[in-house]
Amino acid sequence: MSEIRLSIDGAGVAVPEGSSILDACRSVGKDQPTLCYLETLTPVNTCRVCVVEVTGSRTLVPSCSRTAEDGMEISTESENVRQTRKMVFEFLASSVDLSLVDAPTRTWMEHYEVDATRYGPPAPAAAPGGRDSRRAGHHRLPGLGTAETVHQPVKVHDELYVRDYGKCILCYRCVEACGPDAQNTFAIQLAGRGFDARISTEFDVVLTDSACVYCGNCIGVCPTGALMFRSEFELRAADLWDEGAQTVTRTVCSFCGVGCNLDLHVQDNRIVKVTSPRDHSITWGNLCIKGRFGYEYVQDLGDLATTPIDVVLASVREGGANGGRNRPPTR
Ligand code: SF4
Ligand code: SF4
Ligand code: FES
Repeated sequence: MSEIRLSIDGAGVAVPEGSSILDACRSVGKDQPTLCYLETLTPVNTCRVCVVEVTGSRTLVPSCSRTAEDGMEISTESENVRQTRKMVFEFLASSVDLSLVDAPTRTWMEHYEVDATRYGPPAPAAAPGGRDSRRAGHHRLPGLGTAETVHQPVKVHDELYVRDYGKCILCYRCVEACGPDAQNTFAIQLAGRGFDARISTEFDVVLTDSACVYCGNCIGVCPTGALMFRSEFELRAADLWDEGAQTVTRTVCSFCGVGCNLDLHVQDNRIVKVTSPRDHSITWGNLCIKGRFGYEYVQDLGDLATTPIDVVLASVREGGANGGRNRPPTR
């Protein structure tokens, strides 16, 4: 493969032809913030936190999807880039609950001195189903002096995973994973327009009535914790989720002959969630319902449930959670 040469922040860089600008930046240790980009998915350019300045270009360009060209002059640190990234992060932080974004994103937000409070306190959360029933072209203004938000009750429809769209940044990763990039089920898509845009099942039916096959591949790619294992959700609600106390053990799924790799996240001698390595050339982080959720048989403790985690997860299996005390409202 032939090489091209370009400059990044004044320094010459050589990369294989076909590389993205982001690839070129990362090849010389100049990481850029990303939210909607994931190496296993087709770039959709929705978040724009990765924008850079290209000399001669009328607008800033998304580095995650723009192919690097020979002779390009790129600036990742100009005032225009800095202000744009700051503004994008602030718009997101003022309207979405970003409390569970990853550490690198948090660091970038500190780097750009993101201050979402300057848009005012957040408007109250929507009533159950409120955002889902909004009609395109009928946007309502938030209360005076408040910042409009996507806050709404968590959707808990089954025992496998929850959808907390108050944490959704509309990055499209779940839509891509459910659709053409992995699962080809197309159970979820974007509905609505403008600020009322949201991820929805067909006709907003509950997940159990939708086309969803519960592969959980959407959970595996969600960058904000909007999609989450029910077990993790319940443990967080009970203030028992402790990543520092968890071990991750790689094993091979025992259900069929494909041989998908599983990463078992174990806390307090219990599997609390299952992920799959993204760098695996067979699955690229994707699984089916059996590999993702079919682990109860290895840990059915029956009446031997003795730890707080056992109690919480046993109550999930029985359809309750801590007697319902800590669970956020559902629709
Ligand atoms: S669990 Fe699988 S099928 Fe269901 S919405 Fe997520 S990606 Fe689509
Ligand atoms: S639910 Fe998660 S993956 Fe899907 S669009 Fe929202 S933030 Fe992105
Ligand atoms: S990461 Fe490039 S547009 Fe979102």
